[in-house]
Amino acid sequence: MVCHFARSSHSSCHNRRDTTLMKGAFALTVLLAATTAYYFYIPLPSTISEPWKLMLIDGVFRGIMHVGRLADSLGICHFLHVVNFSMTLDAPDSVSSENLLVSDTTVGGVNARICQWTGGSAGELRRAVVFFHGGGWALGSGKKGAYATLCKKMAKDLKAVILSVEYRLAPEAHFPDQFEDAFQASKHFLQPEVLAQYSVDPERVGVSGDSAGGNLAAAVAQQVATDSSIPVKFKVQSLIYPVLQTLDFNTPSYQQNRNVPILYRPLMVWFWLEYLDADRGFLPAMIMNNHTAQDLEQVDPFRAAVDWTALLPPRFTEGYEPVVQAHGTPRIVEEVPGLLDVRASPLLAEREVLTQTPRAYILTCEHDVLRDDGLMYGRRLEEAGVAVTSDYYEDGFHGCLTFSFWPTFFTVGERALRNYIAWLDQNL
Ligand SMILES: *[C@@H]1O[C@H](CO)[C@@H](O)[C@H](O)[C@H]1NC(C)=O
Ligand SMILES: *[C@@H]1O[C@H](CO)[C@@H](O)[C@H](O)[C@H]1NC(C)=O
Repeated sequence: MVCHFARSSHSSCHNRRDTTLMKGAFALTVLLAATTAYYFYIPLPSTISEPWKLMLIDGVFRGIMHVGRLADSLGICHFLHVVNFSMTLDAPDSVSSENLLVSDTTVGGVNARICQWTGGSAGELRRAVVFFHGGGWALGSGKKGAYATLCKKMAKDLKAVILSVEYRLAPEAHFPDQFEDAFQASKHFLQPEVLAQYSVDPERVGVSGDSAGGNLAAAVAQQVATDSSIPVKFKVQSLIYPVLQTLDFNTPSYQQNRNVPILYRPLMVWFWLEYLDADRGFLPAMIMNNHTAQDLEQVDPFRAAVDWTALLPPRFTEGYEPVVQAHGTPRIVEEVPGLLDVRASPLLAEREVLTQTPRAYILTCEHDVLRDDGLMYGRRLEEAGVAVTSDYYEDGFHGCLTFSFWPTFFTVGERALRNYIAWLDQNL
């Protein structure tokens, strides 16, 4: 009886404590959930693929940027190094290494990773792709994370040799270093004796990249096409949501997607300033197109190349007004000549150059500030007589292709990846 009483009193006391604890835990959970929801929730267009997943990624990304800014302001390390570190964490890799040879080497003095398919018979020539990873000319690595997986997957699916170029990155390197590394590695690789060393068919070499890597791929494709000292030319250029121009940060897609993750408009402009090593204080002026105001004559020769009112189909321009300043900030183009350099902004190239570039595949996403960069380039290439496949994703967002791997697996990313590789398979 005593025992029973003691036990019951003990247990009721326990119950009371449990209840209090539970209430506390419940309140804490609600608070945490509310804070988390507040932190992660951002309004997103309803047509975007898997919006909750994207919000989560965006929240994590913003968190990393906060830590980066904090570390930077405390003088611990540069903001970019923190973000870069998080981007290059190794993920479980879904591509088996059977019939694959992965090696890290230098090509023309530039670091690179080469993924080779080894399944063919001896002496059989293979296709090759020179690939440049994205990350705003500042982040990422072809040897880490999604890009390492992509390299293996492309080598395997295409039974090919993939040269993933480790070009130098900001903040240590600035334009034209990234471009020069990309170009030098390509130029070296395209020598007949180097291609032979890797059993690559010189008639079947392509160039490709995503985002800032797509910028490098487009610029390198132009440079290789017009350089008579390079005997072997690329057969195709395959550009995944490329960044191609600095003159207009108010294209319809820049206006529409300025707040859509993960590539917010200020972040994209900031990447440009970092790449071109320009005064970061120019950012607000450039967002309002002050750097290309009408009274700046040096911009005149390039305006038609980014005139989206003429280059985009009406369905993309409806409801948008061009942002053209009568007077701007002349200091910007004077201090940052890279803004008008075709090696940085391949969209500015002349028709005579575009004509010589290879057959193109351009992947664009509706929910991406860079959508119109890609669409305008496709139109200009077509006008120059280049065969263009435009692969547009209505539910896509910037970066989706590399979010097709662990841990995110976006369905739109998986689709984009499949179509990208299928196009290469059919056209290279
Ligand atoms: C980014 O990370 C990669 C891989 O860890 C590293 O090789 C590279 O030097 C880093 N770059 C910067 C700018 O931190
Ligand atoms: C843009 O240019 C105008 C005219 O020169 C100037 O008044 C304005 O302050 C500039 N805007 C920014 C953000 O620098």
